[in-house]
Amino acid sequence: MLIFGKIYIILSLINYVISLPPKSPAFIRDEFDRKHFLVQDLPGMTTNIKSEDLPLMFAGQIELYSETNMGYFYWKFQDRKKLPENNKRTTFWLNGGPGCSSMDGALLESGPFRVNKDREIVYNKGSWHKLTDMVFVDQPAGTGFSYTDEYRHDLDQIAQDFLVFLKKYFEIFPEDLQNDIYLSGESYAGQYIPYIAQAILNFNKDQQNQQNNQKYNLKGLLIGNGWISPNEQSLSDAQFAINAKLVSPSDKVWPKLAAEIEECQKIVNQVDSTFNDGEIHDYEISSDVCERILTTILSSSRDPSKPNNEQCINMYDYTLRDTYPQCGSNWPNELAYVSPFLNSEQVVKNLNLNFVKKWVECSGRVGRNFNARKSLPAIHLLPELTKEMPVVLFHGNLDIICNYIGAEAMIKKLTWGGKRGFSEDIAADDWIYNNETVGYIKSERNLTFINVFNASHMVPYDKPEVSRALIDLITKNYDEKEGVNVNEIPNKKIITYPIGERKANLENPEDASKPSNENETENQDDNKQAGSSSNSRISRLIQFLVIAILIWGVYVIYVSYRYKSRPVSIIKARTTTTGKKKNVQWADQLRRFQEDDEEFQQQQNVKQSFLSKTIGKLTGNTPNPYSPVPYEEFELNEQESQSTPSADDFKIDSDDEIESKPLPPTPKDDENNV
Ligand SMILES: *[C@@H]1O[C@H](CO)[C@@H](O)[C@H](O)[C@H]1NC(C)=O
Ligand SMILES: *[C@@H]1O[C@H](CO)[C@@H](O)[C@H](O)[C@H]1NC(C)=O
Ligand SMILES: *[C@@H]1O[C@H](CO)[C@@H](O)[C@H](O)[C@H]1NC(C)=O
Repeated sequence: MLIFGKIYIILSLINYVISLPPKSPAFIRDEFDRKHFLVQDLPGMTTNIKSEDLPLMFAGQIELYSETNMGYFYWKFQDRKKLPENNKRTTFWLNGGPGCSSMDGALLESGPFRVNKDREIVYNKGSWHKLTDMVFVDQPAGTGFSYTDEYRHDLDQIAQDFLVFLKKYFEIFPEDLQNDIYLSGESYAGQYIPYIAQAILNFNKDQQNQQNNQKYNLKGLLIGNGWISPNEQSLSDAQFAINAKLVSPSDKVWPKLAAEIEECQKIVNQVDSTFNDGEIHDYEISSDVCERILTTILSSSRDPSKPNNEQCINMYDYTLRDTYPQCGSNWPNELAYVSPFLNSEQVVKNLNLNFVKKWVECSGRVGRNFNARKSLPAIHLLPELTKEMPVVLFHGNLDIICNYIGAEAMIKKLTWGGKRGFSEDIAADDWIYNNETVGYIKSERNLTFINVFNASHMVPYDKPEVSRALIDLITKNYDEKEGVNVNEIPNKKIITYPIGERKANLENPEDASKPSNENETENQDDNKQAGSSSNSRISRLIQFLVIAILIWGVYVIYVSYRYKSRPVSIIKARTTTTGKKKNVQWADQLRRFQEDDEEFQQQQNVKQSFLSKTIGKLTGNTPNPYSPVPYEEFELNEQESQSTPSADDFKIDSDDEIESKPLPPTPKDDENNV
């Protein structure tokens, strides 16, 4: 007992020293807060994920307002061994809907995991957490694992709610206040993100906050297939369908479609003519006239002669087919695994839910309530936002519903940075990733448009590694080369690399391709980063040596007493360490913490998480402890889909429409598994 006590004290000291973040006296207290949020186990974590890929994870619900019983769920992932370029960054990710859970992002897109048929996690090689800490947030309240008694209706409300969330988030993770903050997301998050960004800028400008030195270092926005300018984008569905040969003038549906295009064009013209009057017009927020275009295209694509699951075009990826009238809402197939995964008892427990509720991908109730009738579409906010930070709009080019043609059309009309649209004489630059042309880029005055080739509505789902390089683009971690001039307009190649590969170039700057002027300043920045990272490498080395010596000391003491102390021997622990299955060993550590303090020594490379783990709860490792729940509820973007609640639906009470929408059937290949 005595020797145990000594070891405990020494190890606690070691841990205290290694996990102490610079200049954060509040650390100990905060650490005790965040321990409740540590994610310690997930199905498949020990068997399917290599230890070096397994991020440090925190998840749980944060109460925003007790009066309305409102709380947000978040899931945070941070790399344990950060690359030098992953330098003090936190990126929040939001999915759209309104009302669709950001667990789509975490488990199907930019997050570190995918869920397989066995409802176990497997690693996503393109996970963004290698370049930035990722925080997936379920919002507005009521979405996913977020809860509330009161539903939100408008964008300014959810922007204020997000500020409340941020305040509490930074109380738990105060060191993140020093980080560069990025907001990212998809689809209807094209509305959320600009509103939240604007609220953050206002927060930073607020005098009182300035006096209190309160500031969030918001550095940029990344919006994927964003829904930003509703009517313009709906109108573009027609052009997109024609270009993709989904419809043609010889089709029976053509006259109907042509009439709808004309009607929608009138509304778009009206929107354009009142764009700057500062008033909120219903027809600008959404127009069922314009939304009808997509409905018409999808229903005309119906082909009853085809097998059931091929009867309609998938509106999120026109190269795919789906059942009618789902037309994409059954997609992606892995969604059928995500839902039972998130509803399993084991996962719910490990995600630290205080308020347990059933997870559905998209909440009809949140969507119905959220009508955004008091807010101008987010396109109006972009000119102000681009004064302060880069705004990147990236579009997977196979998506119909938020297609790239509509995005280019709305940019063409937008005035920002003192000019309208991109200059006539800027070319589309080629985006190169790993020697392949993966898209094109137009960028001026802090607004960047990116067309991502062969990608759907969910770009990181189709192109995980390419999508991660979006972080390199927004943080300027790329090289530029002269390209081929098209029509005498100079075009460039913007070159991004698989993670870690450009670092090699920077370490031998003479080898790097001759940088342009612009590049020189970027490289200087990057070199500065590289320099500070080599400093931190040295200090890490010193830390490691100190720890190793201490551990050796402890080991010597322990071995000399081992027969007098507890039966669980450090030797045993070492056997596992030398075992081949490194991945298994990592999570075993967590479980053993409860019983076995020797595990302390294996934590030298895990900063900050240590105390929380020792106090964390014990979780069993029973195989398949979760019971599959049938897959339920709607598609992404019910707001935009063909059975969409439109402007009029919101006025007339049409709640039942969504509720009574047929549930998509479970995909066939899933059935064997249930
Ligand atoms: C672009 O953003 C930076 C801040 O990141 C700002 O200093 C600059 O003025 C902006 N440029 C324009 C043209 O607004
Ligand atoms: C990329 O291209 C360069 C030069 O063409 C070549 O040396 C390199 O091996 C290529 N890399 C990959 C990953 O294909
Ligand atoms: C990807 O897109 C490009 C350009 O649109 C095309 O040339 C290429 O064939 C596509 N590749 C695949 C694998 O579909």
